[in-house]
Amino acid sequence: MLKPKIAPSMLSCDFSQLGEEAIRMIDSGADYLHMDVMDGHFVNNLTFGAPVVNCLNNYLQKNTKKEYVLDCHLMVSNPEKWVEDFAKSGATIFTFHIEATENPSELIEKIKSNGMKVSIAIKPKTDVSIIFPFLDKLDMVLIMTVEPGFGGQSFMKDMMKKVEILREKLPNLDIQVDGGLSPKTIDFASKAGANVIVAGTSIFKSDDPAETIQILKDSVQN
Ligand code: DX5
Ligand code: ZN
Repeated sequence: MLKPKIAPSMLSCDFSQLGEEAIRMIDSGADYLHMDVMDGHFVNNLTFGAPVVNCLNNYLQKNTKKEYVLDCHLMVSNPEKWVEDFAKSGATIFTFHIEATENPSELIEKIKSNGMKVSIAIKPKTDVSIIFPFLDKLDMVLIMTVEPGFGGQSFMKDMMKKVEILREKLPNLDIQVDGGLSPKTIDFASKAGANVIVAGTSIFKSDDPAETIQILKDSVQN
């Protein structure tokens, strides 16, 4: 059985308190901290880059004894440009969009040789078969369940077909879903075979984030 992992999307946190918000998530049972990097070009929104991830990493090193994973989702054009910076910032996982690069194989090698785990994300309109040639080189695949760019959108159930196809091909692959995940939608993702669950709004707007994380975790049933 694949381990369920819950990844609160820090996009929904109070950025003025990023360090404390991250600790609150770690203490609530988060497995990953999902960091949404947007460049205003690949997507129509701007967030933060490696300097902020670096500050967060330094803060966490000083302020928590628990282990944490910085799961960086780069919604940027030319992701190859930022590999070294993210590696130095303490990023654990570097996820790039297949739509954003000309040479995925080279980028995968670059990410690995910089000591990070590598994952490919695909947008809702992108066919899943585009990533088949790279699957054996990846630590994770990210199936977007909303158009990338903003938190708080509705979960696209149609995307579960992609998850099913991947799960069928690779029983041991970490399959992440991102966008609109909540206790109401988790069962669709879980049944399709997703085991890494990103959730922003549903965790941060919850009265009890630890409880919501636990509900999501218990619902993953690979
Ligand atoms: C959207 C981001 C997501 C988003 C998820 O582009 O990749 O990580 O923040 O937020 P919710 O859970 O609110 O849909
Ligand atoms: Zn994301």
